[in-house]
Amino acid sequence: MTQSIRDMSACFSLKDKVAIVTGGGGILGRHFAAGLAQHGATVVAADLNLANAEATVAAIEESFQIKTYAMALDLTNEDSVKEVVAKTREKFGKIDILHNNAASKSSSLVKFFDTVEEFDMEIWQEVMRVNVDGMFLMARQTGKIMCSQTAGGSIIQTASIYGIMAPDQRIYQGSEYMGIPINTPAVYSVSKAAVVGLTKYLSTYWAKNKVRVNTITPGGVSSGQNGVFQDLYSNRVPLGRMAEAHEMVGALVFLASDAASYITGQNLVIDGGLSVW
Ligand SMILES: NC(=O)c1ccc[n+]([C@@H]2O[C@H](COP(=O)([O-])OP(=O)(O)OC[C@H]3O[C@@H](n4cnc5c(N)ncnc54)[C@H](O)[C@@H]3O)[C@@H](O)[C@H]2O)c1
Repeated sequence: MTQSIRDMSACFSLKDKVAIVTGGGGILGRHFAAGLAQHGATVVAADLNLANAEATVAAIEESFQIKTYAMALDLTNEDSVKEVVAKTREKFGKIDILHNNAASKSSSLVKFFDTVEEFDMEIWQEVMRVNVDGMFLMARQTGKIMCSQTAGGSIIQTASIYGIMAPDQRIYQGSEYMGIPINTPAVYSVSKAAVVGLTKYLSTYWAKNKVRVNTITPGGVSSGQNGVFQDLYSNRVPLGRMAEAHEMVGALVFLASDAASYITGQNLVIDGGLSVW
């Protein structure tokens, strides 16, 4: 008798799955939401900036004729987190996928890029409240629902290469983003390292409930940095360039899908090889 072989293309499908993407109105979030929707999931793009989440929904509808949903979400407000999760479950009956993806650059870009020596602790706390506390609240609220479902669920959390390696401080000389001198602030590294820790913790905590928790770690994505930065950064990357936003999506779809059914607690690094040398 021949052994049966699983239909692996079906394993990559997200048909009949319900997903929430936080930061769904952001530069990467719109690609993440579109990618999940194109693979069959019903997607809620949730964001502090509702107009941007609505723009994501409109772009997906226009390009692919797929209906998706936008919701206002403030990760620093536990009631708002509860409301988005409850509304999603009420409307669609379940939640299979959480992409915990939102992050904050605080209310002041200038202060966000300040030096270690002068860094404003209000800004530090503002960032941590979103990147760490908010991510925990969102995972906890959604995880409770996933634990009550026979099929469990998949949580994917976005970190950054600067959560797993230090920035090369030499690449910031003359580097700008939207006309502002940039660097990678310590609070960003610290908050993203926490994401990796939270993923590992929750992956063992909820494993018995069939809830998988993984991290995706993007490298630098080309999105309006000046030429100096693009060149200095690209020079350090084995593949020799920054990433395009859409290149982050495949890893998310994979980890969200049943093709990754035996993967939990891991970190999929999408950095053109930067962290390899
Ligand atoms: N773009 C890159 O080069 C890059 C590299 C590595 C990691 N990342 C990570 O990828 C993720 C997406 O990044 P991006 O480039 O799309 O950033 P982005 O700033 O464009 O998007 C982040 C989104 O989070 C939302 N947000 C901020 N505070 C919030 C809150 N309190 N409640 C709900 N939503 C809130 C913002 O409104 C925004 O739409 C982030 O976690 C980021 O740290 C990005």
